[in-house]
Amino acid sequence: MKPAHFYLNGHPITLGAKLGSGGEGDVYEIQESSSLAVKLYKPDKAASRASKIRFMVQQKLAERAGKMVAFPQAIVTDQKGCFCGFSMKKVVGYLPVHELYSPKSRRLKFPNKDYRFLVHTTQNIVRAIASVHKAGCVIGDINHSGILISRDGLAILIDTDSFQIHDGRKAYHCQVGVEEYTAPELQGQSLTKTLRTENHDCFALAVLIFYLLGMGRHPFAGTDPRDPNKELGHQIRDYQFSYSLTRPVSNVPPRASLLLKDFPPEIRKAFEAAFGERKSGFFGIKGATAPQRPSAFEWVQFLGKMQKTLKSCQVNPQHYYSASSKSCPWCRIRQQSGIDYFGMNPQKQTQKNNLLSLKKAAHSQNPQAECALGLRYFEGRGVSKDPQKAFQWLQEAEKHGSIAASFNLGVIFYQGNGIGQNFEMARKYFEKAALSGDPDANYNLGVMYFNGDGIPQNLKHSEKYLKKAAMKGHVEAKQMLSSLF
Ligand SMILES: Nc1ncnc2c1ncn2[C@@H]1O[C@H](COP(=O)(O)OP(=O)(O)O)[C@@H](O)[C@H]1O
Ligand SMILES: [Mg+2]
Repeated sequence: MKPAHFYLNGHPITLGAKLGSGGEGDVYEIQESSSLAVKLYKPDKAASRASKIRFMVQQKLAERAGKMVAFPQAIVTDQKGCFCGFSMKKVVGYLPVHELYSPKSRRLKFPNKDYRFLVHTTQNIVRAIASVHKAGCVIGDINHSGILISRDGLAILIDTDSFQIHDGRKAYHCQVGVEEYTAPELQGQSLTKTLRTENHDCFALAVLIFYLLGMGRHPFAGTDPRDPNKELGHQIRDYQFSYSLTRPVSNVPPRASLLLKDFPPEIRKAFEAAFGERKSGFFGIKGATAPQRPSAFEWVQFLGKMQKTLKSCQVNPQHYYSASSKSCPWCRIRQQSGIDYFGMNPQKQTQKNNLLSLKKAAHSQNPQAECALGLRYFEGRGVSKDPQKAFQWLQEAEKHGSIAASFNLGVIFYQGNGIGQNFEMARKYFEKAALSGDPDANYNLGVMYFNGDGIPQNLKHSEKYLKKAAMKGHVEAKQMLSSLF
């Protein structure tokens, strides 16, 4: 056995697959835990990070902030006990938030999700940010790659080692930032030594909320007719919130946008407060132009209330909008631009037609159609996920001679998704498919006999099945044979 090079809490760990790379290091799975990931710093970065991460671990931020924030949990060291990185909650199957707020990728990556999902997910993101503030940290560098979203709208924050934290004597700064999320009072400044505040985060937070609820448009990205090429950073610096209804601004929102009047009054006011200047008045401190912006906690309340006001459009029931709006903004935008952000697109219409003919064929006992319909129910593709229905259709298909159905039933029993794991049934169905020469079924049987899944381990049987699969070109079977036998 190779000696372990890294230790977590003093215990040796073995790195698994690489989950991602960043400017400062790489993130890996570890074989000892399926719920943890470790970040290992590049050798020249580790030493300068050690005291901040040790402090974060000691503060038990991971526990205090809860499951929506992947804070460092424990220290990773090398054989000599030197700091190399840290462990954190592993995040799998989530997508960066820009995949959701960009309407094009939303359609692809989050199919069938309407505006209610956007508001709900936005609220979850804001909750995650509120929990960081509650734990006493400032994020500093809120941006679209540090926020990950699950298909059902859960949010997790990563890149937490760059958050700003204070140990009572000194602040460990967040030294980076992205222009589009940087507050007006920080635009153009070097961020390496700037002390960031919760109020700065609240500017970025409002930008993020605007992106999510406003179809990926930046709140300051209007056009200034007097200066059409004005950079976004300068628009922000000059407090040119293009959508403002209360302040004179010199830039106008792009055509066919969701407008501030389309939001409930409370949300409108919150955006105005987040993107506006502090009113100059008797108590205004000279030079201090940053207003007190709505906090993450306040946004959670506003979004919760907004969620309750959403109603479906009478013309197009897939359009959801706030009841405070006089008419459906999505219909208005469609009339203005031809873009229907939530309507059924032609591709979906074809899928719907395909589904209808598939159901028809399945009901007339066509085994391929029965199997295909079963899989659709299994995966929730074009229909609501329903393991029971999936199981019934696959059984029908199997009865009518579909080998693919035998194999898929084996997989369902092996994984136990929705119907309970049963290795004996899995083996039975794989054996049936294997009799017809299905290479995947032979491979799975090889794996089951190798692992001893529900049966005594039998390496002879394992080898026999793997060879059958390999003979038909099964790549993994070949690999397993060459490495194990
Ligand atoms: N907890 C995690 N679980 C899974 N993947 C992660 C996790 N944290 C980070 N990653 C992946 O690693 C990449 C780099 O991590 P990040 O902390 O952003 O690096 P850096 O700060 O060095 O740029 C991320 O973009 C993501 O793909
Ligand atoms: Mg980082």
